[in-house]
Order: sequence, then structure tokens, then C-alpha cells
Amino acid sequence: MKTIYNFSAGPSTLPKQATEEASAAIANFAGTGIGIMEMSHRTKPIEGMVEETENLLRELLSIPSGYEVLFLGGGASLQFNMAPMNLLDSNASADYTDTGVWANKALKEAKRFGKVNVVCSSKESVYNHIPKKFEQTPGAAYLHVTSNNTIYGTQWKEFPQTDTYLVCDMSSDILSRPIDVSKFGLIYAGAQKNMGPAGVTTVIVRSDILGKIEREIPTMLDYRTHISEKSMFNTPPVFAIYVVNRVLHWLKNLGGVAAIEKTNIEKANLLYEALDNSKLFKGTAAKEDRSTMNVPFVLSSVVPEAQKEAVEKDFLKAAVEKGLEQLKGHRSVGGFRASIYNAMPVEGVEALVTFLNEFEKKF
Ligand SMILES: Cc1ncc(COP(=O)(O)O)c(C=O)c1O
Repeated sequence: MKTIYNFSAGPSTLPKQATEEASAAIANFAGTGIGIMEMSHRTKPIEGMVEETENLLRELLSIPSGYEVLFLGGGASLQFNMAPMNLLDSNASADYTDTGVWANKALKEAKRFGKVNVVCSSKESVYNHIPKKFEQTPGAAYLHVTSNNTIYGTQWKEFPQTDTYLVCDMSSDILSRPIDVSKFGLIYAGAQKNMGPAGVTTVIVRSDILGKIEREIPTMLDYRTHISEKSMFNTPPVFAIYVVNRVLHWLKNLGGVAAIEKTNIEKANLLYEALDNSKLFKGTAAKEDRSTMNVPFVLSSVVPEAQKEAVEKDFLKAAVEKGLEQLKGHRSVGGFRASIYNAMPVEGVEALVTFLNEFEKKF
């Protein structure tokens, strides 16, 4: 069978070892003779596995004391609501950075709960850069950032300084590089890019920021409920958490987040260099903000506008023949996008670069 490299933006490629281990657990979890999806979450093996997953995440991200780790359902999109519902009083305001479609969705949802100050936006330039010069609002409850903009391939290289705390959607680059968790009040991330499958969302929250607002919060949407019940207030997505567990073991064995960051930089450099040296393709994100996770690129002006659609089709078809899958760009940027998350091996990026060069030569 030919090797397939899956460049999907999410759900995306997972370490083979992790998916194999998870497959085995579907039939028989941890030698119990019962499949993991058939086992109550209120059993010792499952409770132990969830606790281990939390501890691995704490270790890999060097999460300081005073922070709680939760595994919730509802995706990152639910966090667009839960974050302001728990942290923003109706008579208070929060600062939001508008750096992409997901950031924009987050700020739109937050408006339901309090005043939102959009402190900067790169919308006018199709979100091709991260605006770094902006004023924060005195007294704002928090500053919301999207650490990596999956669709536009931009990434905060340095997080902004703030007098309050950061609330961060880290869905598409969590565990790709070391971060200083102490700068954040809240981090949330859907697992389906760098951590595991869809169905579980990781939340890391500093406990002292909770319980400060007047709003009555529905039980299921109150972080304190899930903290006191150790993510087991209701039935958690056990299988999805188990896949995260296996991915975290894989990452730890590779040397952890600092080690994977080196590989991520190596992969990203390889691909950006190929794009910069190409006459046929060009990257769309501002150079200084280029993401190490998502690399959008389009056909350059050497291809007449009228021919672009046909050339794109040819490119994608030829890519699939080479085992390079899911390279179609998001509709708001067009062209192509290669997502090269933690689990994408260097060989996958090398195969893509070889293909880009071959395609250009034939063109
Ligand atoms: C940065 C970012 N935030 C949020 C989301 C939405 O996540 P979910 O589908 O888990 O709600 C995505 C999905 O691609 C994303 O890339």
C-alpha cells in the first residue's frame, strides 16, 4: 500500500502508534476484557486513565499549581460561550483580538454576555497577519487571543503583555511549542488537531478567576461543576480522552513539547522555503506571522486568472495520486493549505516539497 500523508486541518493526522493502541482498547481495555467504549466512567481503570491523561498534560505543558485541567464536550465553539459566561459580568467589558474567522466567532458570542472591545483586527486584509500594535482597555476583564489562526496560517509568536490575564483559543497549536501557562487565565482547545479526535475539548483554567461574577450559570456550563467532579459531572467522552492519553504518551516519548517544537520548525521551514523559491506558488500569510501548523498557499500571477481553477484541480488530483491528501485550501483563502501538525512526519513535508517542485517543472 502506498504511503498516505494527510494534510487535513482538522480532524487531522494522528500518530500511528496512538491510533493502533486506541484500536486495541476498543476490544479490550487495559487487560480488563471489556472494550473501552463499553465501560462505565465510574470504574477504577477509566478514572485512573483520565487522571493519568491530566497528569501527562500538566507535565508536558508545565502547568503550574493553581490551575485546573478539564476534559469537556461541546468543542472549542462551546468555549466561545463558556469563557465569557464564567468570566465576563454583564456590566463589564473584555478585549478581543480579531485575527480570523474563529477569533471573530469567539467575539460575537462574547457579546451576549458583556461588552466586547475589538482591540484590533486584520479582517480588511483577509486576516493575512497578526496586528500587534493596539491599545488595551483599562479595566477590561481579560484579553482574548487565538494563538494560531487555522484558516489563515498566522500565529502569535509572542503573546501580548496585559495587566489582566489572557484567555486563549489554542485549538490549532496546543502542544506544538512550549508556552508560559502563567500568562493565561484560561486556555481552551478542541482536541482534533494536535491532541486527539473530535469530541473532547481541553480546558486549563486558573481557579482564582472563577466565581467572581454575578450571573447565574447553568450547572453544565459552570467550570466549577466540572472542577469539583473531576470532569465526571456527566459521562465524559471517554474514548476520545483515551486517544488523547495515547497521543500524550507518544509526545512524551519523543522528548516532549520542546523536542516537537524543533521538528515543527524544521518542517515549516522546509515548506516555506520551497514556497519562497517557487515561481508558481506563494504563501499567503505575512512572513513574520507564519504559522508552523497551517500553511496556506495559492497559485502566483504566472497563472492567468482564467486558468487558476483548472490548474488547482490538476494540482489536487496529481497530489492525491502521490498520496498527498486534503490539500484543498479553505474557501475564504482559496488555493491550498497544508496542515503540518505534530503528528505529520518530516517525510510527509519532504514528499510535499518534492511534489511542489515536480508540478512546477511540468507546468
Ligand atoms: C482556532 C479554532 N478555534 C475553534 C475551532 C472550532 O472548534 P470546534 O469544531 O471544536 O468547535 C476551530 C476549528 O477548526 C479552530 O481552528
